[in-house]
Amino acid sequence: MTGAAPYYITTPIYYVNDKPHIGHAYTTIACDALARFMRLDGRRVKFLTGTDEHGQKVAKSARDAGIAPQEFCDRVSQNFREMTALMNISNDDFIRTTEKRHIRASQAIWQDLVKRGEIYLGRFAGWYSVRDEAFYEEDELAAGPGGVKRAPSGAEVEWVEEENYFFRLSAWQDRLLAFYDANPDFIAPRARRNEVVSFVKSGLRDLSVSRTSFSWGVPVPGDPKHVMYVWLDALTNYLTAVGYPDVESTEFSTFWPADLHMVGKDILRFHAVYWPAFLMAAGLAPPKRVFAHGWWTVEGEKMSKSLGNFIPPAQLVDEYGVDAVRYFLLRELPFGSDGDFSRHAVVGRINSDLANDLGNLAQRVLSMINKNCAAAVPQPGPLGAADEALLAASRGLLPRLRVDFAEQAFHRGLEAIWQVVADGNRYVDEQAPWTLAKTDRPRMQTVLYVLAEAIRQIAILVQPVVPAAAARLLDQLAVPQDARDFAALAANPLQPGTALPKPEGVFPRHLVEGVPEKGGAKGGKGA
Ligand code: MSP
Repeated sequence: MTGAAPYYITTPIYYVNDKPHIGHAYTTIACDALARFMRLDGRRVKFLTGTDEHGQKVAKSARDAGIAPQEFCDRVSQNFREMTALMNISNDDFIRTTEKRHIRASQAIWQDLVKRGEIYLGRFAGWYSVRDEAFYEEDELAAGPGGVKRAPSGAEVEWVEEENYFFRLSAWQDRLLAFYDANPDFIAPRARRNEVVSFVKSGLRDLSVSRTSFSWGVPVPGDPKHVMYVWLDALTNYLTAVGYPDVESTEFSTFWPADLHMVGKDILRFHAVYWPAFLMAAGLAPPKRVFAHGWWTVEGEKMSKSLGNFIPPAQLVDEYGVDAVRYFLLRELPFGSDGDFSRHAVVGRINSDLANDLGNLAQRVLSMINKNCAAAVPQPGPLGAADEALLAASRGLLPRLRVDFAEQAFHRGLEAIWQVVADGNRYVDEQAPWTLAKTDRPRMQTVLYVLAEAIRQIAILVQPVVPAAAARLLDQLAVPQDARDFAALAANPLQPGTALPKPEGVFPRHLVEGVPEKGGAKGGKGA
């Protein structure tokens, strides 16, 4: 155990202008795997997700839909709540920025920043992208088709001139750089950290933090013709959920600063530059880490409304099952890199890793036990070198996984587990328990015990990624509910003689014409 240190992890809060797609599911699944891992490792976890409901973009989507913004938000936010249930997400809270608790927190941080002299009234003239909800400098823009100016994200920008409140971001440049220096793991992956550091080094201008040309937002305290800039409002959600402005509360002192904000690479600047500056300016500690993951394309194309290639998570779950989708998303790419989502790659990966490698191993071993050991955990005799080697390999996984999960290297952790699955498959072939069934039954029992015990270890360790399938495997090994955490890996080995239920396959195969069993996406660009 790494001790009972609390662990606070957050997803970005999702804009309610759109329906959930696999990009959103990806961020949330990654956080869920971490939240589950830390809980199993004995930590007290708070896992937060939710929806970002204010701002010009949401107001416009509501207008386009012909309904009042609040009603629109209620409807779309519900879609995201359903996505979390569908993806078997274990969040402890779901925040909406239109909730009272959040409006209170946003106004409180605003008032505190004003009191500390960090916010002043001025006049803004510059470029704004509604799609990105971001301000851009002239030199960041490029001319797109027809000479229209575009943000680096490709989004259109518009010229805005209005009375705005400003946050003294420029004054935080050196302190931000000093903070990055003192906290080399604050931004990951490393390549992204370097980008942020050079952005800050290139100079920071004060940031407009209020708008007057629309009203769908948190009213600025004392000056209600302004609403707060949606990013200041949105980022504050991470504080709201731990009880801010009540900084004396147990919740706040237990969980703040957050251990990890997981974000996509497109919103790193808000989390790694503006957010720590706002927090330090308000006398609060910045989060411990921000990880920026990569982006998925679909069958080689960027997901876009015009291409109509958004994949709703529900469709994937229908086709492949929730665990297979979770496994694919976390295994296929080095976490942090961009990659391509293709049905070919999904089916290849599911068939080879889940159905063939782990599914087959478990199925072979459990059915042999069922048939040859009176459906009970076999009694092992003395262990030989090969037996000890397989058990040692499975027991050696936890310390490795702790490192991999602390670095958000899910693909590496899963690869390590599947090496042990491969060891298990090699061991079955070498030991040939089906032959031992005829020639040496005591030895057969030992071999089957060693295999079942290795499968127990593996099933416990894959719970963060494939929770439902892992639970079914553990049920088939009759592992009690209270012996499924990481402490049980060493403390609760299988007890010979325990009756086992009838085995059944846990990972179905997917047959798609023309898709070979060993698949793989062409991913790997980026970090
Ligand atoms: N509302 C802001 C976040 C505020 S956090 C204080 C926002 N919302 S979003 O709905 O547009 O995006 C949420 C997350 O989904 C981002 O982390 C983004 O990177 C991720 N993804 C959106 N499309 C994606 C892909 N195609 N691939 C991977 N992740 C993607 O930004």
